[in-house]
Amino acid sequence: MTDLPAVPEHIGFIMDGNGRWASSRGLPRSFGHEAGAKSFENTVGSCRKLGIRYATFYAFSTENRSRPKEEIEALMSLFDRYAEDIFRRIKTDERKTYENVRIRFIGDKSYFSEKRRKAIADIENLNADKEIRLTVCIALNYGGRNEIVNAVNAFVAENPGQKLTENDISARLYAPDVPPPDLIIRTAGEMRLSNFLLWQAAYAEFYSTPVFWPDFSEKDLREAIESFSMRTRKFGGISK
Ligand code: IPE
Ligand code: IPE
Ligand code: MG
Repeated sequence: MTDLPAVPEHIGFIMDGNGRWASSRGLPRSFGHEAGAKSFENTVGSCRKLGIRYATFYAFSTENRSRPKEEIEALMSLFDRYAEDIFRRIKTDERKTYENVRIRFIGDKSYFSEKRRKAIADIENLNADKEIRLTVCIALNYGGRNEIVNAVNAFVAENPGQKLTENDISARLYAPDVPPPDLIIRTAGEMRLSNFLLWQAAYAEFYSTPVFWPDFSEKDLREAIESFSMRTRKFGGISK
């Protein structure tokens, strides 16, 4: 299935550079987001092919809410279109991008309309009865700080006056059963987390590529995994 040496179990993708991709072609930013959505689908297919078990995609951060209203609306209507499309295609797609793939959403869903929340729930329920090869988490209206604060608040509500442990927080994250990312890939040359998986990223390997997200290909993914496989992960210990 794969000729790669050591494949990470969970990869996080910070899909950055849609706007710059569009500007460099003299196109409006929304075209970059359209192209970015296609790249997301291709990358889901590549992850599935390469035997990755979990992939988390950063699609919209809590801070992205500060963008102009038109851009937020363009992003949300793109999401709505894809949500419908995924639903339909899961049965008809010849490329079988979503076969044996489970899709979940992490982030603050209370921000979304009831209609959008229903679309999210419908997608999350797809393939629920199938054997799952790849779990895709889409971080939508997601913020790492927000996730930690919510977890702490949930603990405090359940256990007033008690001290919490690391496990108490881990157990109350948006997807507590998903293992932490082994590798985080950020496109468009930036080297920051921008509030992505702050708690879970404690020992993730970080990889940055100058490629803009719409141009990110299976070849780029393979290069990132190759770089990952050369690293020595020590988790605070000493290398053997
Ligand atoms: C990433 O691309 C997509 C989202 C944050 C929604 P950007 O829109 O951040 O693209 P740049 O960074 O402006 O190029
Ligand atoms: C991070 O990208 C968020 C997503 C990819 C959804 P941004 O473009 O929002 O991050 P900053 O503002 O450059 O840090
Ligand atoms: Mg950006």
